[in-house]
Amino acid sequence: MTTPGPRRDVVRLAAESLAAGDATGWFERLYAQAGAGAAEVPWDVPQPSRYLAEWARRGAVAGGGRRALVVGCGLGRDAEFLAGLGFAVTAFDISGTAVRTARQRHPDSPVGYVVADLLEPPASWRHGFDLVVESNNVQALPEPLRGRAIAAVAPLVAPGGTLLVIAAAATPEPEGPPWPLSRREIDAFGAGLTPVSVEHLGDPDDPRVARWRAEFRAAP
Ligand SMILES: C[S@@+](CC[C@H](N)C(=O)[O-])C[C@H]1O[C@@H](n2cnc3c(N)ncnc32)[C@H](O)[C@@H]1O
Repeated sequence: MTTPGPRRDVVRLAAESLAAGDATGWFERLYAQAGAGAAEVPWDVPQPSRYLAEWARRGAVAGGGRRALVVGCGLGRDAEFLAGLGFAVTAFDISGTAVRTARQRHPDSPVGYVVADLLEPPASWRHGFDLVVESNNVQALPEPLRGRAIAAVAPLVAPGGTLLVIAAAATPEPEGPPWPLSRREIDAFGAGLTPVSVEHLGDPDDPRVARWRAEFRAAP
């Protein structure tokens, strides 16, 4: 079976990376090739994640200057959305090209775009953010990185802060990434936090797709 559209580039580059024992190297190669017009980034869309936007709308979320951290920010769509809600946003990605491109695309943005690795975040970020958003990143990581990545997220949440996790729960694609997360993996994000909600949601554009959206709260 052939893989259609921009996913072809993702599947090809991820497979090459994994075969070479470098599970995350393909992200940089994908962004670099896309910059040269030789590949497409499937998540390069102008609008924020609909699951993030809907969550914010439902909760009438307003940043009020509070600190938000966007994990694996890619080209900045969710970071810019949160900045628009009034959060003081730090957004990071392992790909230098992604971070550079995000800065170029949003030259007047108040978002602080940073190159960093979720598996080794700066020590100063520990318990540093009132809102942490992890959307669609861990699903693109294989084991054993995956468990380490999940465990690295909750310690970034400040006392009283919120963690929002959005991830694939089911996909029709025969080959990953993405590799959907189990309910057990979603629950693992909340280690040391209190669960507020765990939703299993459909995708209005494709009945074969399902997503997790989970919210956790840190003790004050
Ligand atoms: C599937 S993309 C999703 C991007 C973005 N969250 C979105 O929804 O538009 C996964 C992103 O995670 C980044 N990433 C992967 N591993 C990472 C790590 N260990 N630390 C930081 N970013 C990482 C990749 O470079 C890529 O931009």
